[in-house]
Amino acid sequence: MEVITSIEEIQQLAHRLEKEGKKIGFVPTMGYLHNGHLSLIDLIRERSDILILSIFVNPTQFGVGEDLEKYPRDMERDLELCREKKVDYIFAPQTDDIYLQGASTYVSEEGVSQGLCGEARPTHFKGVTTICAKLFNLVRPAHIAVGQKDAQQVVVLKRMIRDLHFPIEVVIGPTLREPDGLAMSSRNSYLNDRQRQDALLIHKALQAGKLLVDEKGVRNVDRVKAELMTVLRSGSFVRINYAEVVDRENMKAEKEIELGRSMLVIAVWVDNIRLIDNILLG
Ligand code: PAF
Repeated sequence: MEVITSIEEIQQLAHRLEKEGKKIGFVPTMGYLHNGHLSLIDLIRERSDILILSIFVNPTQFGVGEDLEKYPRDMERDLELCREKKVDYIFAPQTDDIYLQGASTYVSEEGVSQGLCGEARPTHFKGVTTICAKLFNLVRPAHIAVGQKDAQQVVVLKRMIRDLHFPIEVVIGPTLREPDGLAMSSRNSYLNDRQRQDALLIHKALQAGKLLVDEKGVRNVDRVKAELMTVLRSGSFVRINYAEVVDRENMKAEKEIELGRSMLVIAVWVDNIRLIDNILLG
């Protein structure tokens, strides 16, 4: 496995692989890898000749007062995990090389990024689309793998890829969970025992909502949302950002639940730690 940090080198590599007719599979990450990331590597490997994973804590997707400085980092451990997974190349650029001094060009999606997380974190998705457009230009992947846990990010990236004509197939990996049900996330490392108990309410709420739909046949959005809120409110440190029923394709609020299309989405703060999760219905 080779670690590339320079922009010129990644461009040369992508160019060479393209000339050799090799299909690049790409997993963009901010590091501090967990099994969810590793499952994305497995998912994309089957489709690709060469596997590239990026590690870059992207400053532009963090808002003022968010956790950029304390975002967990462990490059040595990440590299070891990637070696074991037989990743071919790691791309780990420097911030100053990615965001050149005086740079004034950004990529922003202005539809599906607007509600939900986009409302609570108004600059977040612009940061995500900007860094992903840069990474796609540099790495030139044929396929990328992203996790379903970040459901709105998936929809935003698919829209950007379509709108900007990136010739990239998006492969979506299922949410991996800890044994207690908590969705895997690098941010789980912030949680102490008490906070973790409250964080577990997210999955409990999603399951309770799904149960109403699957076993009681409920299709009324307000009834399901009320159930999500009741479970979430039973925690003492949970501040609810949203608990919604949305269309999985465009993140718009549903009027009525339709199996195979509707998705339950939740975002909360446990103290100041923001956590999101979702579950597909049907
Ligand atoms: O999901 C993430 O880890 C990040 O948002 C991504 C896609 C790597 C962009 O920085």
